[in-house]
Amino acid sequence: MITPQTIEQIKSRIDIIDVIGEYVKLKKRGANYLGNCPFHNEKTPSFTVSPAKEIYKCFGCGKSGNTITFLMEHDKLSYVEALKWLANRYGIEIEETEVSPEQKQAALTSESLYVINNFAQKFFEDKLFNSEEGKHVGLSYLKERGFREHIINKFQIGYNPSARDELSKALAQNQFNKELLTKTGLVVVRNENELVDNYRNRIIFPIHNNSGKIIGFGARVIGKADKAPKYINTPENELYNKSKVLYGSYFARMAIDKANECLLVEGYTDVISLHQAGIENVVASGGTSLTTEQLRIIKKYTNNLTIIYDGDSAGVKAALRGLDMAIEEGLNVKLVLIPDNEDPDSYVNKVGTTAFNEFIAANKKDFIIFQLEIMMKDAGGDINKKSEVANAIAATLSKISEPKDLIKRREYTKRCAEILNIAEVDLTNLINYHIKDRIIKENKLPKVNESEFFKDSLNTKNENIFETSINVLLDSNFQEREIVRLLIEYGDLNWDQEKKIHEIIFETLNQFHLSNEDLKKIVEQYEEELNNNLIVTKNFFIYIDDKSLQNLVIGLLYFPFELSFNWSKKIEGLKVQLVKDEKEAVSEGIKWYQAKKLRAMLLEVELDIQKHSHDEKLYLKNIEVHMKLKEVEKDVLKNPKTVIFY
Ligand code: GTP
Ligand code: MN
Repeated sequence: MITPQTIEQIKSRIDIIDVIGEYVKLKKRGANYLGNCPFHNEKTPSFTVSPAKEIYKCFGCGKSGNTITFLMEHDKLSYVEALKWLANRYGIEIEETEVSPEQKQAALTSESLYVINNFAQKFFEDKLFNSEEGKHVGLSYLKERGFREHIINKFQIGYNPSARDELSKALAQNQFNKELLTKTGLVVVRNENELVDNYRNRIIFPIHNNSGKIIGFGARVIGKADKAPKYINTPENELYNKSKVLYGSYFARMAIDKANECLLVEGYTDVISLHQAGIENVVASGGTSLTTEQLRIIKKYTNNLTIIYDGDSAGVKAALRGLDMAIEEGLNVKLVLIPDNEDPDSYVNKVGTTAFNEFIAANKKDFIIFQLEIMMKDAGGDINKKSEVANAIAATLSKISEPKDLIKRREYTKRCAEILNIAEVDLTNLINYHIKDRIIKENKLPKVNESEFFKDSLNTKNENIFETSINVLLDSNFQEREIVRLLIEYGDLNWDQEKKIHEIIFETLNQFHLSNEDLKKIVEQYEEELNNNLIVTKNFFIYIDDKSLQNLVIGLLYFPFELSFNWSKKIEGLKVQLVKDEKEAVSEGIKWYQAKKLRAMLLEVELDIQKHSHDEKLYLKNIEVHMKLKEVEKDVLKNPKTVIFY
């Protein structure tokens, strides 16, 4: 392990322009540098590097990170390798510490598993091409199915002979540790001490991680699977974690980037056949429902996910279960069902690339609409079931909640209402109910009574207030982001002789809670780091291990004022006043944050007042609360200096 001191030394020496400049031709634009993004194809540069913040972000593909992640992603280095690369460049001597026995063991185990997997892959490949059995049984089966040699080589496919222990013997000759060997799943122990091959007489598909290393295998029987399972996969171990793997992602990354679309199929052979047909933006799920981790892998490259399954597979149902998660992740999900008992592999072999592509283009169905149609079919004429369906689809649609996606939600609402054969406004109300429910939970506000809500929703006047309050609540996102940005940028500076800026901001956040989960996570991390180290620098987040947090923070730090190039004119046009110094920025940020939160609370109370106008006691209490809130609001808004996007 490299010592923390060395890591600090390396980080302090990093010159992001110098490092990225090795790979990308950068031109200075204002405070930043601009170039063509190395992670996706583009003609007009949108890859921005900020030397002051030591971060980069591409406004085309969304990739962002620091110097270390750049090296990791661009050159596929590990974290340690990237540090060593930098140390070498800046002539820093690397000090390594003793690692704990457990850490050493874990690192050793992973390393050894890679070594064993590599050895096995070479063994399988050799058997497939160079042994009589491999050629007659394995290779001829693959050829019969239409796989050509270049694609077999590309995916490093192999064959495990049918003898009891051919691989086991070869492994034993290399004196690999027995415990490790059983971890790989390549062999199993028989009669207490004897190792035998686990994938006998099977075609072997290596499974690669995102940097092309082999983390496991899928082993398929030759021909029909009557007795044995069709596939045996690597068991969970230090390298292989099923829920985090998408088969083929290593080979598909670039193509997904380029096409701005990821095709998802069920099986290994589907991925391989589509590649052979020249369709390379494809990964496989293994037929189980998608996990959040897998969706995140996809989301790194594109927002457009097209699921291609065979029509009557159980996989479709499984995939449906992952839908809400995909929508929460902001993915646009489309579905294509392959007809006539074919799967993507057999279908592309039957009709060829052009017809396959045409079929996909012509039959892409929106997944939300598809789900709705299936549920409607199941519901038949049953009114109760139909209203359950409406509720379910409203719950799904309520998860489209990014402000930038609101138009998308409105479009869906319109189409779904048509299919449900109900008025659009009713579905909107139902969706709002779900949103409101979530907002109330997140803000820990008192819950509204459901039946009250629906009774009142018939009253159009109420509805408007309701809509407005919802929108206002949702819109506090801007103020929330700003206050968290201020925390990260200036938290460590002094507010006055007694307090630091982070203390002031925490006071505000305790008063008015954040509703955005991601921002909450950042603040939690900040508090944790504060407990551990007493100070939190901006670099803590920029170099944090958690990639999604890192992205979030970089997203925050790149605020519109700094978007340099094509944004600068618009900003001038809007005459946005830049705040003078840190302290003023902080007090402005806090003020608008409080004001926004108060506005939302006021509207909540107003809604309540309308609702309970017949209950005099409650009415008076509400009026009182309203007046108090108004006073606080007036206080907060006193003497506004700068108006920012309110
Ligand atoms: P081929 O029949 O060779 O074309 O494979 P396929 O990928 O079309 O198989 P299928 O559609 O039946 O299954 C899709 C995926 O589910 C496979 O690629 C495997 O990842 C997984 N799978 C299928 N059968 C089994 C099995 O018996 N055990 C396990 N663990 N996984 C399986
Ligand atoms: Mn198949």
